[in-house]
Amino acid sequence: MRILAIETSCDESAIALVEATGTLIRNPRFNVLANLISSQVKVHRPFGGVVPNLAKREHIKNLPLLLQQLETKNLKLETIDLIVVTVGPGLEPALWTGINFAEDLAKKLEKSILGVNHLEGHLYSFLLEQKAGLQFPAMVLSVSGGHTMLIHLEKLGQAKKIGETRDDAAGEAFDKVARLLGLPYPGGPEIEKLAKKGDENAIDFPRPMIHQKNFDFSFSGIKTSVLYYIRDLKLKTLNLKQKADIAASFQKAVSETLVAKTIRAAEEFGVKSIALVGGVSANKYLTKKMEKAAKNIGLAFTSPQLQFNTDNAAMIAAAAYINTLKKKKIKNKIEANSNLNL
Ligand code: KG4
Ligand code: ZN
Repeated sequence: MRILAIETSCDESAIALVEATGTLIRNPRFNVLANLISSQVKVHRPFGGVVPNLAKREHIKNLPLLLQQLETKNLKLETIDLIVVTVGPGLEPALWTGINFAEDLAKKLEKSILGVNHLEGHLYSFLLEQKAGLQFPAMVLSVSGGHTMLIHLEKLGQAKKIGETRDDAAGEAFDKVARLLGLPYPGGPEIEKLAKKGDENAIDFPRPMIHQKNFDFSFSGIKTSVLYYIRDLKLKTLNLKQKADIAASFQKAVSETLVAKTIRAAEEFGVKSIALVGGVSANKYLTKKMEKAAKNIGLAFTSPQLQFNTDNAAMIAAAAYINTLKKKKIKNKIEANSNLNL
């Protein structure tokens, strides 16, 4: 099945063309023919975060350009079997841009259309261009700028959320702490870079909810601890060493919390493997810690290739394929749902 996917839930305009084969039982395989992303980071950076109406304006401008790019790659749109588009969660004006674009295209090409949950996109992103199949059941930690959740994946198409953040998402905490340190948006990659120059044991930031029996998270307190730490230094400006120590200690505290809860969930549910997905899984420090902890308890570990961690349309195609295998109904009328959950 050739799937054309469109993703515009936040500040990345993305179009992908993916060839999917296989069944739910025999691991599906995805050949990503194109994974085009037009990032709006530069547009939103002066505002320190994503501005919804600017995102909408940029999506309207970018989507036709991305489609053109696809056609110049000699990928013929007539060969598509299905058009799929993210319907939520995300910024409503941004979501509608993608939906309207997808519906117009579906009409023009006389193709069917399917709405996809962005969270399912992240959940199944580890399937893209994967060499070996993952063993089920699996425990998936999905961490991005908008969500942080633990998902028990009994098998493909059978997912149950077992815990999530009660306040800020992990990526949001990275972004907010980056702002406290005067680093540009998005803060995650900036913190990771700066942390390499710092001492991760310099400051003992809290590991929120780490000893609680549930599988929920809370990251707003850790951000406040960083704020108080900086305030108590009573300095006009921080030097590079001080900033790097804060970045490294913060990254360690967040990573240890995420790893500890994921490992406990994996043990309690008796899974065979662990997957780490979502924008924050681009963080090598976190990925390495998680992989080591998984191996320590004899579990397989996987994380998507770098281009599939942060928002992209290929993962939307992957989730759509899983849904078609589950015989999810294909609708003609699709609506944005900014609060869609898993
Ligand atoms: O999945 P994503 O692109 O969008 C959402 O669905 O939210 O995730 C974006 C988030 C941002 O908060 C960004 O700071 C974070 O992922 N992120 C990182 C890294 N790269 C992106 N956080 C920590 N380390 C990174 N290397
Ligand atoms: Zn996302």
